Amino acid sequence: MNDYSIPQRPRRNRKSAHIREAISETSVRASNLLYPMFLLDGQEKKEEISSMPGIFRQTEDHVLREVEACMNLGVGMFALFPAVDDSLKDEFASYGSARDNFYCRSIRAIKSRFPEAIIMTDVAMDPYSSDGHDGFVENGKILNDETLPILAKMSLAQAEAGADILGPSDMMDGRVGYLRDALDENGFTEVSIMSYTAKYASAFYGPFRDALSSAPKFGDKKTYQMDFRNVKEALLEARLDEDEGADFLMVKPALSYLDVISALSRNSNLPIAAYQVSGEYAMIKAAAANGWLDESRIVHETLSSIHRAGASIILSYYAKQYAGYLASIKA
Ligand code: PBG
Repeated sequence: MNDYSIPQRPRRNRKSAHIREAISETSVRASNLLYPMFLLDGQEKKEEISSMPGIFRQTEDHVLREVEACMNLGVGMFALFPAVDDSLKDEFASYGSARDNFYCRSIRAIKSRFPEAIIMTDVAMDPYSSDGHDGFVENGKILNDETLPILAKMSLAQAEAGADILGPSDMMDGRVGYLRDALDENGFTEVSIMSYTAKYASAFYGPFRDALSSAPKFGDKKTYQMDFRNVKEALLEARLDEDEGADFLMVKPALSYLDVISALSRNSNLPIAAYQVSGEYAMIKAAAANGWLDESRIVHETLSSIHRAGASIILSYYAKQYAGYLASIKA
């Protein structure tokens, strides 16, 4: 029939669902997912974040139920972010290192109910800072070295509360090594550090800042978060974090930074994490709510792409919903 031959026909390997499944190079499991949650002080409060439908600021009692539901779906890692009342914020982010603040109390409660749950904390000043910046501010400048002891104090309070992984999201230079030393000197050698290694100054964080009312009171975060036009800088940050003792390297945001994930995963022996951030979640939700995109397929595709690029851990507001899809497919 045809007068020429096509010896290689890649379509042969796509001809059945079974073959496609057998040769698929990546599949995101529930165990790859880490679920970020917003924590409120008090009891029985649950407020939906308007720019993140389906995601809530909620009190410990609700969070405990969420953790249980997630664990039943195979999602066992959680990141907590505190929504702190403005009246508790000051320029030193003092509330962040108060050992009995509601954040630390909730970590204790979760770890005592679910010792197997992996709890990652947020180490940065912004949720507690009256300036809304991740570092200490003086005369309109974010000071690097003055911030480090504040972050260390916050880290020790979190470690003492039972945190498994600290997540410095602040982007100060030298903070991974500084926190590692502080942890080790205080006997917390088993507490891990997931460094926000390549955290870009991104417009995709908008809904998160709504959730915590943590937008900077002046300026932007470009003197500490990375320029999104760069990738070499991410390799430098990765080398420094490795040398300083990080256990995981994170790239954030995720979908617009697949090249960065891929570069880090090829250049490092440490596991790579990626954060599908609030704006990425909001975009999918908004399009799905309008009937413009098929939500579950888009989530499957974006998470798979992030995984394929080289992230073994994916922080995603879709973690629970996606694990639910996976469970329903299996059932
Ligand atoms: C702040 C922090 C931010 C996020 C995590 N930690 C926002 C920021 O840097 O302003 C963003 C996460 C998201 O958008 O989902 N330390």
